[in-house]
Order: sequence, then structure tokens, then C-alpha cells
Amino acid sequence: MIPNERFTVRRVPVEDTYALRAKVLRNGGPLEAARVPGDDGPEVATYAALKVDGGLIGCVGLFPEPCPDLPEHPGKGWRIRGMATEDGWRGRGVGAEVLKAALDHVAAEGGGLVWCNARTPAATFYARAGFAEIGERWDDPEIGPHVRMWRAV
Ligand SMILES: CC(C)(COP(=O)(O)OP(=O)(O)OC[C@H]1O[C@@H](n2cnc3c(N)ncnc32)[C@H](O)[C@@H]1OP(=O)(O)O)[C@@H](O)C(=O)NCCC(=O)NCCS
Repeated sequence: MIPNERFTVRRVPVEDTYALRAKVLRNGGPLEAARVPGDDGPEVATYAALKVDGGLIGCVGLFPEPCPDLPEHPGKGWRIRGMATEDGWRGRGVGAEVLKAALDHVAAEGGGLVWCNARTPAATFYARAGFAEIGERWDDPEIGPHVRMWRAV
């Protein structure tokens, strides 16, 4: 990592993010483990942060899916999945910029309700982006403690 090296955020094909997803979110597992159901859906949007040399250092996926806790909400539901920043780049605003791109995408699509099943260590990250917790926390036996979070856009 070069100090103060810059990055840009843009929409990318989901396949471009599998390596980072597998490394950060699947404990270095195979690329296959980084896929999630519906990844290839026509409305799915994937955004990534890229270094000047094109290396991918952050990613997020946006999926059309209603929030289970807010079925009466009038806005269209969008679920955030596959949110990850390369180790060594965290705490430098990469995640915030990638998440902002996802929220801008929802705004451009007419707005709605954005939600995610957040790993509890990432809850403050989402809270800074305006997300609120909803429902009881739970433990995923493979991944650990989670909490659902949401915000309107
Ligand atoms: C959660 C995650 C995606 C956040 O990405 P990130 O690039 O570190 O995010 P940011 O840098 O925008 O913000 C992270 C923290 O750094 C701080 N920060 C933001 N910009 C900063 C900067 N320029 N300099 C110093 N700190 C900064 C933020 O205040 C934030 O603090 P918090 O953790 O107390 O909320 C990243 O930590 C990650 O990949 N974690 C492992 C996988 C994971 O848990 N993913 C989420 C699944 S739900």
C-alpha cells in the first residue's frame, strides 16, 4: 500500500469482485464460495473501488429484495451483500465511498429501503452511513454475530 494512494469507485461486473469477496468474506475460500444466490440477476448492481493500477480494493453488491422486518415499507427493497475492503486499506474511507455509490444507485432508481445483515463488528460502519438496527441480533454459526440494519434512500 502506498500512503495516500487514491482510488476510484465504479460499477463493475460481479465476477470482478469474487476474488476479494472470497478473501475477505469467505476466509480465503475458493471463488465459488464467494457467489451468492441471484448474483447474476438483471437488476443486481456491483460497485468496486479500484486503485490507479486497476487492482480492486473494495466492493459491494446491491440486490432487489424486500426487507423481512419491514414488509409494509412503501419503498422498493434493496439488500446490500458482499461488502468488503481489502485488508490494509480499511479505515481510509474505501468502504464509505463504495457504500455511497450503492446508495446513489438506489437514489437514481427512484429511492427505496436499503438493508443488510451486518456482521456486528461492521455495525458502526453502517450506522455512520445512516443505517439503524432493527430486530434481535443473531449468531450465524459459520460467520458469527449479525444484526439487521436499514435506512431509507
Ligand atoms: C466493514 C468494512 C467493509 C468497512 O470498510 P472500510 O474501507 O474500512 O470503511 P471506512 O474506511 O469507510 O470506515 C471504516 C472506519 O474507518 C473510519 N474511517 C473512515 N475514513 C477514514 C480515514 N480517511 N482515515 C481514518 N479512518 C477512517 C471510519 O470512521 C470507520 O470507523 P468505524 O469502524 O468505527 O465505523 C471493512 O472493515 C471490511 O471489509 N471488514 C471485513 C468484512 C466485513 O465485515 N464486511 C461487512 C460485512 S456485513
